[in-house]
Amino acid sequence: MFLKFAVLFLLLGRSVASQQDDLGFTYNGFGGVDLSLDGLAQITNNGLLMLVNNTMQQKGHAFYPHPLQFMNSSTGTVFSFSTTFVFAMYSEFTTVGGPAMAFVIAPSTDFSSALPSIYLGLFNKTNLGNSSNHLIAIEMDCVQNLDFNDIDGNHVGIDINDLKSVESAPASYFSDQENRYVNLTLFSGHALQLWVEYSGEQRQLNVTLAPIEVPKPKIPLLSLNIDLSPIILDPMFVGFSSTTAVIKAPHYVLGWSFKMNGQAKALSLSQLPKLPRTGPKTQSKIFNIGFPVIGVSLVLISIFLIQFIVARKKKFADVHEDWEFEYGPQRFKYKDLYIATRGFNEKELLGIGGFGKVYRGVLPNSNEEVAVKRVSHDSRQGVREFIAEIVSIGKLQHRNIVTLLGYCRRKGELLLVYDFMPNGSLDKFLFDDESTNQTKLNWNQRFQIIKGVASALLYLHEEWEQVVVHRDVKSSNVMLDGDLNGRLGDFGLARLYDHGGNPKTTNVVGTFGYIAPELARTGKAKPSVDVFAFGVFLLEVACGRRPVDQSFQASSEEECIVLVEWVISSLNKGAILETVDPKLEMNYEVEEMELVLKLGLLCSQSIPTARPCMRQVVRYLGGETPLPELPSLSRSVFVNSEGTGNVSIWFPYHHGRSAMTPQSSVADSLLSGGR
Ligand SMILES: *[C@@H]1O[C@H](CO)[C@@H](O)[C@H](O)[C@H]1NC(C)=O
Ligand SMILES: *[C@@H]1O[C@H](CO)[C@@H](O)[C@H](O)[C@H]1NC(C)=O
Ligand SMILES: *[C@@H]1O[C@H](CO)[C@@H](O)[C@H](O)[C@H]1NC(C)=O
Ligand SMILES: *[C@@H]1O[C@H](CO)[C@@H](O)[C@H](O)[C@H]1NC(C)=O
Repeated sequence: MFLKFAVLFLLLGRSVASQQDDLGFTYNGFGGVDLSLDGLAQITNNGLLMLVNNTMQQKGHAFYPHPLQFMNSSTGTVFSFSTTFVFAMYSEFTTVGGPAMAFVIAPSTDFSSALPSIYLGLFNKTNLGNSSNHLIAIEMDCVQNLDFNDIDGNHVGIDINDLKSVESAPASYFSDQENRYVNLTLFSGHALQLWVEYSGEQRQLNVTLAPIEVPKPKIPLLSLNIDLSPIILDPMFVGFSSTTAVIKAPHYVLGWSFKMNGQAKALSLSQLPKLPRTGPKTQSKIFNIGFPVIGVSLVLISIFLIQFIVARKKKFADVHEDWEFEYGPQRFKYKDLYIATRGFNEKELLGIGGFGKVYRGVLPNSNEEVAVKRVSHDSRQGVREFIAEIVSIGKLQHRNIVTLLGYCRRKGELLLVYDFMPNGSLDKFLFDDESTNQTKLNWNQRFQIIKGVASALLYLHEEWEQVVVHRDVKSSNVMLDGDLNGRLGDFGLARLYDHGGNPKTTNVVGTFGYIAPELARTGKAKPSVDVFAFGVFLLEVACGRRPVDQSFQASSEEECIVLVEWVISSLNKGAILETVDPKLEMNYEVEEMELVLKLGLLCSQSIPTARPCMRQVVRYLGGETPLPELPSLSRSVFVNSEGTGNVSIWFPYHHGRSAMTPQSSVADSLLSGGR
């Protein structure tokens, strides 16, 4: 009754504004309640306010249908107000939730120009941060968006005219009993209660969160000193906004109480409508709970429908062509990779390689840990060959090769999914400062890694059904598994650019410092190209130095930055062991070390035919065959095989020292320039 009167006063207009100073309403459930709903928002049969259901990329709003007067016209200040509501946010996954739902105070209920997903159904790209929005929102956000400075993927924030929260905190409450903060998961599907209180005198906005079974904590989660009068544009509407992105994450409000100029009436928790017995958590959980068969089929049907709809959503669409049909099992869904990497969250970034960023992820269905590499690729050309090739590479099975689990194609982008290698890449162990707390690799471990990589290359060159040339052998492409076994990774990427390129121009792809001279000249990748790079790799591992190192000063008269040259000159002085990595602290087998250093030189000779093949390399490393005596390695003794004169045999080190920065990938420069 009271409510009706209040509304009546309201409708009578501003002249009676003062009489609705103490307007309030309390809904213990929403059955029969008149709310202004739009989008996905609906009131369910049992009286829940469902802000959004499982439909992707949509919004839902629910507002108290009548505008409220927030300003005290005689003093020009904002009235105190208080509100509390019980809500529940679900997610089909236990580790990620959907975008935020929010309590909103806004000058209008029309959010038709607002965008869903990260824009929370409240803003769009052009009005973010604009003070003409006059918008106050308390967001319960389950997605971390770094563009909006979100602190994590499970927080409560106060937003004023913008999605960058003025203040925010990880979802938690202060337990008066335990006298400490207790963490909460917003998207657990558990009913939570939120209080928003503003004091016009103190000019303070408090936000307090607690699980439904816990009384209102004494200490608020957020307390912001703010004068709301510049933001309030009387009259204002109060209500809720929610939105969906790519996962099933329905949001409900169970009950809501609001009071102007006073304390919102407490909700009668026992009267609140019941939440659905289970959220949309897919797979096993639903079945364990023993849903009626019809329920299960409905769920299954909606899962199919939703996936059908999702597949059509451009933003998350995979590119899929008929010829890929046969590669079904190797294809991953973009959505799965998106979820696995928590939206390609920067926190999951493992590294940035020559071809793209690599993220750690946990696949939603299997909980398998993977590494996902995003390769940007604009050219449609060559993709088919490349896919065929990576799929065949996916069939490579060798204990020293990183398994490629599959791929996903999107417009302009290719995503490759690999086994996750907990110890990262070898170069970090070899070159990073000791400050980075890495375990040191002792010589025995290094020697095992070398042998592992050699046997992987032998497998690729000679033992598999077709000859595979890796073309980018280097320490940063050697990954270390949990047992510190070396595993060769990053296959075939070089060839993607090969296939995709104009056949008239030769794309040399590889990394500066590791490229065999004949590859630079002819662009033809033969196995001997890998042997060359493997030779450089051996020296890196033994000396703990990059192939071209600007920072290092040899003891000799001239500043020496080229690893191979330095090893040769030390060898010629009869002091090859002076090049050994000092981090080993003299703990190594002298025979093995000499073998590795000399084999490194033997492999990285400029004349391809002078290099051993991988089978020989494996024999030398295994001690089955003694290493042949190296020819006298004075540089002048070697004559360029094609007789073009005084080209240094240790190509490509003699040129471009200053023109190219060490470690810059030729691929990089080709990619940034040529396309
Ligand atoms: C979600 O709600 C909207 C609007 O009420 C409805 O059209 C749609 O079918 C619902 N979707 C699902 C997946 O339940
Ligand atoms: C803010 O929005 C108003 C009204 O829509 C517009 O006129 C103004 O240009 C916007 N200001 C900025 C900085 O975008
Ligand atoms: C609570 O969450 C915060 C932020 O996510 C975290 O730093 C903290 O360790 C958590 N505390 C407990 C007791 O789990
Ligand atoms: C906010 O919380 C603090 C600490 O409990 C309290 O002193 C203050 O009065 C509260 N302000 C409002 C507006 O409720």
